Amino acid sequence: RDAAGLVSGLAYGPRRKQNRFERTVVPDRFENTRDTDPALHANIEWAEKIASRIPGSKLGADVVAENMVNSDAEARKVVQSVAAAAKEWAARTGKERAQVLRSVAQAIEDHRGELIEVAGSEAGKAIDQGDVEVSEAIDFALYYADLAEELDSLEGAAYVPVSTTLVTPPWNFPIAIPAGGVLAALATGSGVVYKPAKLTRRTGSFLAKLMWEAGVPRDVLALVCMDKSSYGRVLVEETDQTILTGSIDTARMFRSWRPDLRLFAETSGKNAIIVTPNADIDLAVKDVVYSAFGHAGQKCSAASLVILVGSVGFSKRFQRQLCDAVRSLKLGHPHDLAAQMGPMVEPPHGKLLKGLTELGEGEAWAIKPRKIDDKLWSPGVRAGVMPMSEYHLTEYFGPILGVMRADTLGEAIAWQNAVDFGLTAGLHSLDPDEISAWLDQVQAGNVYVNRGITGAIVRRQPFGGWKRSSVGAGTKAGGPNYLIGLGHVEWADKDL
Ligand code: ALA
Repeated sequence: RDAAGLVSGLAYGPRRKQNRFERTVVPDRFENTRDTDPALHANIEWAEKIASRIPGSKLGADVVAENMVNSDAEARKVVQSVAAAAKEWAARTGKERAQVLRSVAQAIEDHRGELIEVAGSEAGKAIDQGDVEVSEAIDFALYYADLAEELDSLEGAAYVPVSTTLVTPPWNFPIAIPAGGVLAALATGSGVVYKPAKLTRRTGSFLAKLMWEAGVPRDVLALVCMDKSSYGRVLVEETDQTILTGSIDTARMFRSWRPDLRLFAETSGKNAIIVTPNADIDLAVKDVVYSAFGHAGQKCSAASLVILVGSVGFSKRFQRQLCDAVRSLKLGHPHDLAAQMGPMVEPPHGKLLKGLTELGEGEAWAIKPRKIDDKLWSPGVRAGVMPMSEYHLTEYFGPILGVMRADTLGEAIAWQNAVDFGLTAGLHSLDPDEISAWLDQVQAGNVYVNRGITGAIVRRQPFGGWKRSSVGAGTKAGGPNYLIGLGHVEWADKDL
């Protein structure tokens, strides 16, 4: 947790991602307002157009096909060619690279609809979720452009980028997270080998194409699609550093392949929101539901647990309102504009399937998840989660929320901190003393008071974990030190 993250994490009230191009696409309940607001009506027509193209979309398929890597030797060749091309890119000034990044921002905005479409078709992302992701990608491009310019004038020091950076993003944010990693590395002057997640590689490849068209040299940013992980190992071994957003297991695998790997990894989370008797309960319910079930809970930042303190746990009000709100979520696929919660990226299996179907000791379903089709399940709420139980400590990455009770705020904080991870954490309380006690003790990279715990905003809420949610030496993505950390600073006065 760095100072910037802590301070900027204090956002009071729900906020949406913003950038200068922002527009609202699909409000929460658009069907109630569609006949009354002409501006909204125009947006709905736009959203309907995208939604109609989601099923069967093939966007990006041609780019994937052109960039398949089929052997270790091919993977090695890609890295060599990026390293050669990166020299010219590094020789440009930060200001020149910033101009390219700003063109990328414009290209992403110009293709907002297509990006939402392809993410909807591959990842099952609802249109409103895809929309904020596009905004976040634009925010990254514009922010890292500003930071790239600052690299030109470091006081008493020169900034030296590495030659090649491998960027391996996850499938759950197939637009914003690759945009963040790729553009950060490019902003520093590094060449980039970019391997999109297999489940969302059309989205990732379409994004790369936009970057090339906007002026990123084709050989400075190489796109690599592959079916076999051994080629990935070559990429990890041959590049200078790796930016990974993925599971802790993937980070460990990378490290086992290369113990001295320069790794910047954002990994898993098991995140909880505490609600005290001094909370605005209506706001807390809204924030908990959105944080738990946005994108069907498939966010590393998602709320997997709500810890109710004292009377909030014993009175029935919170749990009743919570269950009403969860039951009222409209389920559907991304082409169904009324849907507030969509499908999972693939049929649940292993740990997630167990979490959706089995209870631990002392637990009971407040709402039992129902299978609607292979990937679409209704959201589940499990009551009576016991401290240190399997549910308490495990990341599930799906549409399940556990409810736990604590006698005091201190006890709630102890349970919130008891997990190995420390990515996001929330507190709902209007009491300044409770807020400050919590801020003193909470162990998470991104901490939010009276706000949902997903959707960190670039520049305002730099994103990054603590404990096992972060591996390597990285500073927070979307924060002021991120580019510095990706390269080397050479001081003019070596005695300093
Ligand atoms: N940066 C993403 C969020 O804050 C993961 O939800």
